[in-house]
Amino acid sequence: MLLQVEGVTKKFGGLTALDQVYLQVAEGEIVGVIGPNGAGKSTLLNVIAGVYHPTSGSVRFGGEKISSLSPDRICQGGIARTFQIPRPFARMSALENVLVAASFGLHKTGAGGRLSQSAARQAALEAMDFAAFPLPGDTPAASLNTAQLRRLDLARALASRPRLLLLDESAAGLTPNELAELQELIFKIRAGGTTVLIVEHLMRLIMQLCDRILVLQYGVKIAEGVPAEIAADEKVATAYLGEKYLISAS
Ligand SMILES: Nc1ncnc2c1ncn2[C@@H]1O[C@H](COP(=O)(O)OP(=O)(O)OP(=O)(O)O)[C@@H](O)[C@H]1O
Ligand SMILES: [Mg+2]
Repeated sequence: MLLQVEGVTKKFGGLTALDQVYLQVAEGEIVGVIGPNGAGKSTLLNVIAGVYHPTSGSVRFGGEKISSLSPDRICQGGIARTFQIPRPFARMSALENVLVAASFGLHKTGAGGRLSQSAARQAALEAMDFAAFPLPGDTPAASLNTAQLRRLDLARALASRPRLLLLDESAAGLTPNELAELQELIFKIRAGGTTVLIVEHLMRLIMQLCDRILVLQYGVKIAEGVPAEIAADEKVATAYLGEKYLISAS
């Protein structure tokens, strides 16, 4: 297993954002995490990325326990993520933003250390190309619209050449065309050898993309299965989805 989330509980004061959550992701899978607002989806990604340490339980990546490491170390170890609300360095250009990420992360140097400037630039340009960032690299980050920001955030995440990519609502605010492109892109990312764990509200997208889906409600895993199982799960329907979502997903 590439990723093993083992009984992770995360408390914020008196609030239990994640309650004994178990999840396994195999290399090459696209796994979705759904659930209503406040269910703990972003918290789960944040725990995996090392932003929060679990209150109890642990996270293993490639068999190694990572849940006490810093976000930097985890990124260097091969996990990258996008943000529900991308916040680039606004004073930098698009390319400079990606360069920052390309200088770190997992690289074929083997050491997982910094790349040389020219190699980092090459990696950044490749990531922007792969993510189909639609503007010149010197475009100021502050001038980007939602879809462009999400592309930049994705390029930034890919620039560290992750083995596992965590996507937090990358589809939010996109048009139907942009959604179709995003779906293509995620399949392309997987084809390139990167495993994907995606948090998403859009049922249609998640049902089409994912090999497996995990459903959270109030921090508790209430269902897990292939898309057809989740679509047919009554617990999920009553807890969250509602009939119209199930119909639109089929
Ligand atoms: N840093 C924090 N401090 C205190 N409470 C937090 C913190 N982060 C998240 N929470 C709380 O934990 C719960 C889960 O939040 P989380 O952001 O993981 O939900 P989510 O499933 O991603 O929701 P959404 O669909 O709205 O993005 C919420 O009740 C939230 O208010
Ligand atoms: Mg969230």
